[in-house]
Amino acid sequence: MKKITIAIDGYSSCGKSTMAKDLAREVGYIYIDSGAMYRAVTLYCLENGLFTPDGIDTEKLETMMPNIRISFQLNPETQRPMTYLNGENVEDRIRTMEVSTRVSPVAAIPFVREALVKQQQEMGQAKGIVMDGRDIGTVVFPDAELKIFVVASAEIRAQRRYDELKAKGQEASYEEILANVKERDYIDQNREVSPLRQAEDALLLDNSNLTIEEQKQWLKKRFEEAVNGKC
Ligand code: DC
Repeated sequence: MKKITIAIDGYSSCGKSTMAKDLAREVGYIYIDSGAMYRAVTLYCLENGLFTPDGIDTEKLETMMPNIRISFQLNPETQRPMTYLNGENVEDRIRTMEVSTRVSPVAAIPFVREALVKQQQEMGQAKGIVMDGRDIGTVVFPDAELKIFVVASAEIRAQRRYDELKAKGQEASYEEILANVKERDYIDQNREVSPLRQAEDALLLDNSNLTIEEQKQWLKKRFEEAVNGKC
């Protein structure tokens, strides 16, 4: 069966990763969470004192970019991909509120995007990949055979992130998360480089009222259509 490239874009916390991961596992494709890569760079900035009272020290970050190596490895128990930063498993540390509140300005820096987009394109060279993010269908893989753009209301997305953090035993405030979701939407949509937008040839999925299982079935159908050339 021919291998294709699948680009899943959309707003933060709209369930992109869940559906992308599930599909990749089911059809034997590689799954890449591009947001995890921006989060890993943000963690690197936090741990290396690059957030200053005046903002991000972009000059220093630019010199350090070549030292930032991001990779993914499957967790043998869960079969889920874990994010590694310079050889260290940072999967949990990149999901904290501290990283969530600081990642958007890092993801808006042109040289950061340039470096990560290049790595993402290299990861997708052999096709057989599902990548999720904000600019996958528009910038990273404009020729992807299947492009999905996922939307859901800010309140529903905040509730999902709140439930996720609580389930991991982390402290969380729904109001704080909702404010963060809205702020990230604004920055993601209004930044100068690669703002979040639906590619012209992307299929729109509003999953506000869908269960995980329903959206999984929907995506599987779209995958089959794309592989069989009906998309
Ligand atoms: O999907 P996420 O919430 O983990 O993404 C974290 C941040 O990274 C979010 O503010 C948007 C940004 N991002 C991006 O600009 N481009 C991508 N391809 C993926 C994520």
